[in-house]
Amino acid sequence: MTIKLSDKAEKRIEELKKRYPSAKSAVMPALYIAQEELGHITDEAIEWVASKVGIAPVHVREVATFYTMYYKKPVGKYHVQVCRTLSCALCGARKLTEHLKHRLKINPGEITADGLWSYEEVECLGSCGTGPMCEINDCYFENLTVEKFDQLLTRIEKERPDLRLSTINDTLGAGLKDYPKSEII
Ligand code: FES
Repeated sequence: MTIKLSDKAEKRIEELKKRYPSAKSAVMPALYIAQEELGHITDEAIEWVASKVGIAPVHVREVATFYTMYYKKPVGKYHVQVCRTLSCALCGARKLTEHLKHRLKINPGEITADGLWSYEEVECLGSCGTGPMCEINDCYFENLTVEKFDQLLTRIEKERPDLRLSTINDTLGAGLKDYPKSEII
């Protein structure tokens, strides 16, 4: 049986479907809604999205597994995605990943014992002119150096900012106070 999400989530997907000529075009926001409610894309989430937008679960899975912004397994409260593609790689992205491994003492795909952090390397996030860069939850942080990255992680640990996009509420978290606007999207 297909799961039921919160009333607000169920209402939101019905609203979003009306924006498109065909309901199946709402597959991506529907995946965001499911992820927001469930934490990651589970088999139940795939079934829920398929039932809402009227396509086969396999096609929902194709979308979910193609895009790295859909988490296929549980992640920490803050999930860091470090771009490893050419521009960022040439500008030192590998050093950022090594720093995460050293600082957090976990491997890519693992979660710290306190549940705060997880990380992975991903392909191009479309911010190639400002590499190396990473996405933490739904916010971009660009032009990073290891020092700047380390300070950023420290600030997040201390301030616990909201870096999440809410498709249900149509909001983006406030991000880090005073962080340069050009470096947070
Ligand atoms: S190569 Fe890193 S954002 Fe494109």
